[in-house]
Amino acid sequence: MVGAPHVTVVGSSFVGVTTALSLAAHKVPCLLLDIDASKVELIKGGRAPFREPGVDAALRRALKARLVRATASPAEAFRTPTHIFICVGTPPNPDGSQDLSFVKVVCSSIGAELKRRKSKGPVTVVVKSTVVPGTTAGVVRKALESSSGLRAGKGFLLAANPEFLKEGSALEDALNPDRIVVGGLDEASCESVAALFSWATCPVLKTDLTTAEMVKYAANAFLATKISFANEFANLSGTLGVDWLTVADAIGADPRIGRRFLNAGVGFGGSCFPKDLKAIAAAARAAGRPLTLAEAALEVNARQPQEVTRMLEEELGDLSGKRIAILGLSFKPGTDDVRESRALLIAAEAAEGGAEIVGYDPLVRDAFALRLSVQDRANFRRAASVDEALKGADAVVVQHEGDSFSSLDPLKVKRLMRTAVVIDGRRALDGAKFRKAGLVYRGIGAGRHG
Ligand code: UGA
Repeated sequence: MVGAPHVTVVGSSFVGVTTALSLAAHKVPCLLLDIDASKVELIKGGRAPFREPGVDAALRRALKARLVRATASPAEAFRTPTHIFICVGTPPNPDGSQDLSFVKVVCSSIGAELKRRKSKGPVTVVVKSTVVPGTTAGVVRKALESSSGLRAGKGFLLAANPEFLKEGSALEDALNPDRIVVGGLDEASCESVAALFSWATCPVLKTDLTTAEMVKYAANAFLATKISFANEFANLSGTLGVDWLTVADAIGADPRIGRRFLNAGVGFGGSCFPKDLKAIAAAARAAGRPLTLAEAALEVNARQPQEVTRMLEEELGDLSGKRIAILGLSFKPGTDDVRESRALLIAAEAAEGGAEIVGYDPLVRDAFALRLSVQDRANFRRAASVDEALKGADAVVVQHEGDSFSSLDPLKVKRLMRTAVVIDGRRALDGAKFRKAGLVYRGIGAGRHG
């Protein structure tokens, strides 16, 4: 690599900011570019435009050390960097295919600046946004070449470097990756990006552009399929009076299977799995090679929240006029992200059945209600505490996995509720304790009496 690297990161989403912070942690100076001036101001003030553990503190340290800066000016951002990381969103079109318009706009803007700065040293453009296989070698290359008048591999280098960050542990994941995948247009492109990760102790896999993009989708599709597999078997286990947790532990002990991502529940949500599976399924159909398993994983996932409705109706009968409490509104604990949250589907189904919904989440504010239809929203109220949500409820649905609600005291729950029905959507509670205290406890894959 020529000279010390200095990186521009386009997009200050959790991927962009976390990427900048992980590079800054290894003394690589980064300039964050966002067209939203209010986000740039937040970052300059030491606050990320999203909630993510450890990020604000790391951002303040990096700003102080002048290793991270932020700007809303593309001219400033693209003037001198050695590397430009594209970390903008790739949202779904209504048919599930990927909308690449942000990526294209950014490429045109980079290309226009490359044209102006021809003599100022080589630059490597790196696509970190999740894009369907073939995008970097196709759409991205074309947009950069036509706007810059330069040829990829000669006027600029081109790479794909997918991220594997989990919300809630994004910084931790970026600082301690289990693998780094660098796809390059050519060897020089690969080496230019790999050099930024010379500190890594994990494998750094060098591939071509399209392979790197495929790794991201194959990883997410595999994990999502594993969850849907667990959910289908858990549903059957519950019906046959078998406890899925015991089965999951037993099959998970086989290292070829592994225990992680076998937790059954109300399905997977968030900004990644549903969107990525739909995008790769649409791309596969377009390529004439449909992904039957990925499509089935999506289908199982779409149905899974109905398990909760089924249990509610079995215990309460007609839901009309009943009050249902939902604990945990975001797609998983530790985040305020409600995108594709299963709680939205559970609330919508119960509301459509005529129930009144009271939701509680320690981090979510108005975003949840805003994603409900106007009709369902009229039946929804946000509570300020667990106790307020439980008070007078006929059933409570625990929608978060992990420890967030595991310390619920069964006797107190029973005292607060009108009818003490507990639906454990993530097997987060000790069911035996609740049953012993005289509550009706139903868990996904727990069996009616198991
Ligand atoms: C996921 C992947 O785990 C990351 O590796 C990937 O980088 C990221 O998508 C992405 O593509 O950007 P994330 O969406 O943050 O990360 O969340 P996960 O912790 O993977 O959970 C996703 C969903 O699956 C959640 O709704 C969670 O409740 C559900 N889940 C997870 C289960 O239902 N069962 C499990 O056993 C595990």
